[in-house]
Amino acid sequence: MRKICIVVPLLLLLPLVCGQVAGLRPANYAFYTGRHMRPWQAAQSFCREYHTDLLTIKSEEENQNLAGTKGWIGLYRQNSAGPWKWSRGDEIATFTSWVSNEQDSNKNCVFKNKNKEWEAMNCNEKHSFLCYDETLVLVKENKTWEEALNDCTVCYDETLILVKENKTWEEALNHCRSLEAVDPSKPATAYQNHRYDLVTLVTQDDYNYTLEKAKEATSDQIWTGMRYLAGQWVWVGGERVEYTSIQRCPAETSCGVLLVKNSNALFQISDCEQRINFFCYRKFTTSSGN
Ligand SMILES: *[C@@H]1O[C@H](CO)[C@@H](O)[C@H](O)[C@H]1NC(C)=O
Ligand SMILES: *[C@@H]1O[C@H](CO)[C@@H](O)[C@H](O)[C@H]1NC(C)=O
Ligand SMILES: *[C@@H]1O[C@H](CO)[C@@H](O)[C@H](O)[C@H]1NC(C)=O
Repeated sequence: MRKICIVVPLLLLLPLVCGQVAGLRPANYAFYTGRHMRPWQAAQSFCREYHTDLLTIKSEEENQNLAGTKGWIGLYRQNSAGPWKWSRGDEIATFTSWVSNEQDSNKNCVFKNKNKEWEAMNCNEKHSFLCYDETLVLVKENKTWEEALNDCTVCYDETLILVKENKTWEEALNHCRSLEAVDPSKPATAYQNHRYDLVTLVTQDDYNYTLEKAKEATSDQIWTGMRYLAGQWVWVGGERVEYTSIQRCPAETSCGVLLVKNSNALFQISDCEQRINFFCYRKFTTSSGN
């Protein structure tokens, strides 16, 4: 018997990011590192030839989604007196994320570090770089995430996976966690060694994107990684649950939380034993490469 205890309106989904969660929507950018490293201008030419241009980052959310990836971005200036502009369209930058307020006068090209901070550097230095691509198509290569980051041509990788099998919440959790090991020398099921988990939805855009993908599900409801454990709601990935009204759910049954297909964007809570489709996501981990 299905049990629904509470409906949490979309409004309660705060665009608040705590912890190191990258967005779920796949980014349309390509990341080049290893043997591809180039000075800024050569990177710009490369991006313009094979993609659209060097990457533009216009908001904190976009910047957040690139956490862990470092390299040249499209920001530059002609000289220390000029404004900071984006390579694509030569637009003057409105959003910036400088590591410090003062930029050296002879450093006119911008590098994004792993911590989402930007730094002006000497344009002749060779670095990894990020291209924006208007038309990037999904290139599925049989590489692990780590291999792809180390030396990839097009790093476009789906973070969110809809599993169209019907499983209980617990079975779904085990399925996600056994998909890929972080350290391949140990089983994915070893402590903290799972690359994937039942999905955590942090930002509004995560939620929107998940809802788009949910249209392909074969069940009306889909598990997410939210669960009532030891008297509180938690995401199994360890992130804090920001939806306050969800606490009102009766605690006597441990309920998973799911998305409902074809509804007006609502979270609901359901009996963990029912068998439905579920979302796994690749947990964000720091990348390697320069
Ligand atoms: C990837 O692996 C699958 C099976 O594991 C295979 O069918 C497919 O051809 C491989 N793709 C590439 C690009 O090697
Ligand atoms: C999410 O979708 C809603 C409704 O379609 C829209 O109003 C909102 O701007 C979207 N949010 C983001 C971050 O894309
Ligand atoms: C999962 O359950 C739904 C009904 O809830 C059903 O339509 C669908 O075919 C099932 N999928 C599988 C793979 O068993």
